[in-house]
Amino acid sequence: MKTLLQLNTSLFSEQGQSTRLAQRFVEIWRTLNSENSVIVRDLAKDPAPHLTAERFQAFLAPAEERSTEQQAVVAYSDGLIDELRRADVIVLGLPMYNFGVPSTLKAYFDHVARVDVTFRYAENGPVGLLADKPVYVLATRGGAYRGTSKDTQTLYVQDFFNFLGISDIRFVYAEGLNLGPERQHASLAEAEAQIGRLAA
Ligand SMILES: Cc1cc2nc3c(=O)[nH]c(=O)nc-3n(C[C@H](O)[C@H](O)[C@H](O)COP(=O)(O)O)c2cc1C
Repeated sequence: MKTLLQLNTSLFSEQGQSTRLAQRFVEIWRTLNSENSVIVRDLAKDPAPHLTAERFQAFLAPAEERSTEQQAVVAYSDGLIDELRRADVIVLGLPMYNFGVPSTLKAYFDHVARVDVTFRYAENGPVGLLADKPVYVLATRGGAYRGTSKDTQTLYVQDFFNFLGISDIRFVYAEGLNLGPERQHASLAEAEAQIGRLAA
């Protein structure tokens, strides 16, 4: 039994272009893995809260000293981390919003980066504690920034997963989606073709 975690971060949930590409990947993956389980986490419908000092303190408090409120904060974070652990494959729909990743993804990242749970500090720097697994990122953008300094997403997402111990990150880009119907059509078609190759 293989498990796939689908992280949707589009404001538009199922209607988002990034979600549709993620969905395309998942459909192909399902047909190739008859014994499968798909966990869908939609961060627009069910956003992680912003990290606050109180929430962060809950992560740091020793388990036996946590208040009931702190226990709930940690249980929520543990649930998200458990999904990451259970997954053999992660699929991330990633639109660009205002030159960055959706703020819901940042809030999610803030709840899964936990010292001594998903990473630890060692003599030579931090070490990720999650098992490596492929992450497929379906990146959709109105403009075209790939390979330029305006692509603030690729390195960030790569670095974040690397930090947790996940190094196998593969991107599919659909760019120029707001640059006219022809460009949009060509870009989505190319992304879908690439997804077909990758998912197989
Ligand atoms: C609030 C908002 C901000 C956006 N900011 C950018 C941006 O900074 N750069 C860009 O190329 N496209 C931008 N876009 C366009 C989206 O990246 C593009 O439409 C993408 O396909 C959206 O993916 P989604 O449908 O999965 O949400 C923005 C769209 C929205 C709704």
